[in-house]
Amino acid sequence: MRLRNGTVLTAVVLCSVVSVSWYAAFSAQKGDVVDIYQREFLALRDRLHAAEQENLKRSKELNLVLDEIKRAIAEKQTLKDFNRTWSHLSDETKLKLWNITVSKNVLQLPSIFHHLPHLLAREDSFQPSVYLGQRRTGVSVVMGVPTVKREVHSYLIDTLNSLIYELSPEEKQDCVIVVLIAETDLPYVNSVAENLKSLFPNEIQSGLLEVIAPSVNYYPDFSHLKETFGDPKERVRWRTKQNLDYCFLMMYAQLKGTYYVQLEDDIVVRPNYLSTMKNFALQQPSEEWMILEFSQLGFIGKMFKSLDLSLIVEFILMFYKDKPIDWLLDHVLWVKVCNPEKDAKHCDRQKANLRIRFKPSLFQHVGTHSSLAGKIQKLKDKDFGKHALHKGHSNPPAEVTSSLKTYQHFTLEKAYLGEDFFWAFTPVAGDFIRFRFFTPVKVDRFFFRSGNIEHPGDKLFNTTVEVLPFDTELSWKETLLDGKDKTPKYQRTEDGYIRIAFFVNGIAEGVVDPMFGPLEVVRLSTLSDSPVWVILSEIFIKKAET
Ligand SMILES: *[C@@H]1O[C@H](CO)[C@@H](O)[C@H](O)[C@H]1NC(C)=O
Ligand SMILES: *[C@@H]1O[C@H](CO)[C@@H](O)[C@H](O)[C@H]1NC(C)=O
Ligand SMILES: *[C@@H]1O[C@H](CO)[C@@H](O)[C@H](O)[C@H]1NC(C)=O
Repeated sequence: MRLRNGTVLTAVVLCSVVSVSWYAAFSAQKGDVVDIYQREFLALRDRLHAAEQENLKRSKELNLVLDEIKRAIAEKQTLKDFNRTWSHLSDETKLKLWNITVSKNVLQLPSIFHHLPHLLAREDSFQPSVYLGQRRTGVSVVMGVPTVKREVHSYLIDTLNSLIYELSPEEKQDCVIVVLIAETDLPYVNSVAENLKSLFPNEIQSGLLEVIAPSVNYYPDFSHLKETFGDPKERVRWRTKQNLDYCFLMMYAQLKGTYYVQLEDDIVVRPNYLSTMKNFALQQPSEEWMILEFSQLGFIGKMFKSLDLSLIVEFILMFYKDKPIDWLLDHVLWVKVCNPEKDAKHCDRQKANLRIRFKPSLFQHVGTHSSLAGKIQKLKDKDFGKHALHKGHSNPPAEVTSSLKTYQHFTLEKAYLGEDFFWAFTPVAGDFIRFRFFTPVKVDRFFFRSGNIEHPGDKLFNTTVEVLPFDTELSWKETLLDGKDKTPKYQRTEDGYIRIAFFVNGIAEGVVDPMFGPLEVVRLSTLSDSPVWVILSEIFIKKAET
């Protein structure tokens, strides 16, 4: 049985105990399992996961270990100092800890505490400090989204919107998105969690979205890291912490589903991404693979079997201070299949059996501050069909401007000319899109469509259509009031525009009252902060015939 080989024994103390009891459960149900084994391999794995999960909850041994650790800590108050290392523990305490895991053995098992000795100091080192969600388990795909404080702009909400919008109702039942707020600044962590809670109440309620943060005691002291491979101190700190973030997510995700997909907090996804990944995994001719790659960028869109995560986490933890994640992942593969007596080509061929690339990419980086921008552009062109994504019209010549930040090359100019759609980052209250005609134009009617087939959610919400008549003096002003009851027929903005329509379900359309005469400007104004990016896929300002 290759499901759980010796690697289990090298796991974390906690995991070892869980696995030991898992083995017990396993042998007890041997007859059962033989039957199941005849059937679909994946079904078996799901079962084993469920059993493991059950054991995690129940495990008496686990409680025993925790009690022992607590006692050990109580005996050694000095351990509260994070800076103390494993070697500072008395031999007796060490022996006690080893004893718990190998009571019947003379072997000394490796453990996570070798690599992260500070974790011994606090019993809550492994506890997530914030928790939102339903602790969903038994899904096909678990997606891990680590997020950190960014100086410029956080794309987390946009990323989650993109991930969620592209899921069908069935897919929403069969996956879970875990956001790890990888910061120890509690007010910040809480504010992100609160924000997610208010923006995604249904997703959190249903169990689709979970939000966690590591305990403040999870991270070691980063101030004494060795600078290696020419990376400056700050970079070493960043990559070291990142390794630990991935480990935390993986350890959390492992028991929740069959596959784990590593994502980032600044991505846009393709439609059907989830089914595509799942099917690709299920269609692999052999179970040999370790990483399926659904993006060529960084550590985005990498799929693992949950059962492999122990091995990967252990490997990362062994060297987390030494190298960045992408090297470590490559090294895992190297260690597994490369022959040092053969050349690099041979090694590449061997690794290619374990690391399989899916094309086209399902995930794109949106971080405009990324140094990988050039690559993104290339992926973008390859991946996104253009034709059905916008509808072009011939519009009166105008100067077009917007307070919105354009995403990549999806400019408002091109959208106005009917060549492409306009795509921009999340609008906030007060944002506008403005068409100022070179010469005043008598407009007959207008049509604006936001969102498109691939990104139906990227709509304009709480947005109005406003016009500025060229003739600001004349009699039409009177007609703003309805004759009889003197209630305003149109609302006016503080800067003199007349509000003539609202976006409803992403669309605004209507005729322009002829009494306004020629217009100088047509403007779209967003009144409140939007939860999503925006696409304007159709702009039509129709000139009056006469
Ligand atoms: C960590 O401990 C060592 C030895 O006990 C001491 O020299 C060092 O100053 C400590 N570092 C911090 C950050 O407390
Ligand atoms: C470790 O286990 C052995 C055998 O069960 C026992 O004799 C010994 O006292 C234990 N040591 C500690 C420190 O608990
Ligand atoms: C639209 O924005 C205005 C101004 O912020 C706000 O008062 C109103 O509640 C918003 N309407 C909707 C439907 O969100």
